[in-house]
Amino acid sequence: MQETVIILDFGGQYNQLIARRVRECNVYCEVKNYKTPIEEIKKIAPQGIIFTGGPNSVYLEDSPHIDKEIFTLGVPVLGICYGCQLMAYTLGGEVSAAQTREYGKTSTKFDNDSPIFKDLPENGITWMSHTDHISKLPESFISVAHSDNCPVAAMQNTEKKLYGIQFHPEVMHTENGVEMLRNFLYNVCECSGDWSMSNYAKTAIREIREKVGEGKVLLALSGGVDSSVLAALLSKAVGSKLTCIFVDHGLMRKNEGDEVEQAFADWDINFVRVNAKDKFLAKLAGVDDPETKRKIIGEEFIRVFEAEAKKIGTVDFLAQGTIYPDVIESGAGDAAVIKSHHNVGGLPDYVDFKEIIEPLRLLFKDEVRQLGSELGLAEYLIRRQPFPGPGLAIRIIGDITEEKISLLQDADFIFREEIANAGLDRDIHQYFAVLTSMRSVGVMGDSRTYDYTLALRGVTTTDFMTADFARIPYDVLAKISNRIVNEVAHINRIVYDITTKPPSTIEWE
Ligand code: XMP
Repeated sequence: MQETVIILDFGGQYNQLIARRVRECNVYCEVKNYKTPIEEIKKIAPQGIIFTGGPNSVYLEDSPHIDKEIFTLGVPVLGICYGCQLMAYTLGGEVSAAQTREYGKTSTKFDNDSPIFKDLPENGITWMSHTDHISKLPESFISVAHSDNCPVAAMQNTEKKLYGIQFHPEVMHTENGVEMLRNFLYNVCECSGDWSMSNYAKTAIREIREKVGEGKVLLALSGGVDSSVLAALLSKAVGSKLTCIFVDHGLMRKNEGDEVEQAFADWDINFVRVNAKDKFLAKLAGVDDPETKRKIIGEEFIRVFEAEAKKIGTVDFLAQGTIYPDVIESGAGDAAVIKSHHNVGGLPDYVDFKEIIEPLRLLFKDEVRQLGSELGLAEYLIRRQPFPGPGLAIRIIGDITEEKISLLQDADFIFREEIANAGLDRDIHQYFAVLTSMRSVGVMGDSRTYDYTLALRGVTTTDFMTADFARIPYDVLAKISNRIVNEVAHINRIVYDITTKPPSTIEWE
């Protein structure tokens, strides 16, 4: 049985980051809503429990609270930020608004006798973000770290294995933060560290094989990281019992359709590529509203997929590339839908199958990549930046024509090539060109031009929920601009998008 740590989410912005850090320490963990019944937690028999931060004040009635019983299970608990205050409050300590709000990098002093700070420097920088503080410790707790403004930056009751940290060990601004989490996991929870991608791959392959038996498996392959890794995993597990359908809607980046086909040429699977460009373009003709474009593509995708799937007949399993961030139920509730994202999530209603399998549903994105490497998948598929399901349709503002697609493909290709040449492709998390349908006057040779404006977008981000625009050096931008206007006809102006998300989004439509 896999050692598991449970992370109870109180609505903090770093909940997934904590989980990723724990897994980086080779310990499997799951994020659960703070309302998860205690019986369910007991059933999992976790090695440890971590409470996340959250935006509330524990002493307010409406704030998330927790049943005291959780502290009596004999399972080690680590409270972080709000989680720390909640532990103090629930166990009879006092939490109140601090006179000075602490935010940002804070010089902190640690007691190295604490198992959490063992073998780490006595002084260091931590990342604080709180207005409340613990003004009185609960009985039998001692303070084991402090800063100038915060007498209880960490507290513990070693006998009961209860620990609290006011700062955020999971963010990189906290020096040795991951080491502190590791100390909790190994010194306090006594984990052995049995979570690794090679173990995961072996177990997953065995389980899929057992489950699938002689059945047929169907997968919609997009060429994105998740579906590609899933195809590789399934191929190792069930080989030719797998059929991958790759719907090429003609709105991929330059050469991409061929690249995806090529990447799977040597794998032991049935690979079906459907070239459906004409169908998609016919449906999209004259449509310029972003949401309508997205809906049309989503629906057409399903139709094409369905027609192809029918040729195979009834399949036993439909594989989906759902990953862990999609299945975590946040303690903060549902967020508003800004764009109707198109991915294969909508398929089940339309295809004849018996059961869905989602072998990646426990993995974070970086773990999916590790798994891809473990399985020997082509590096460029593993490193691929996100590409939206509707493809270039939402990177061409307004109506879509073949000419515009081809212009954009060429310009985008040059942009990507030069970013790679400048060695920036790992630092900029997503970058692409957008064909605005705006035209403006230019001069080329001695002639007037009246051509398209192309926008370049490059962002850095950890989770794609928020993003900053990438600071691409001017000389790199200059080279890109020069090459594009010279090599791609009908583009005579290039602009660089310098907005963050929010208030913008990453894609333009
Ligand atoms: P936005 O534009 O919402 O994009 O800031 C956030 C991330 O999601 C990607 N994206 C999509 N991915 N289907 C997808 O699978 C979609 O319809 C879709 N729309 C946007 C976008 O590229 C960025 O990485």
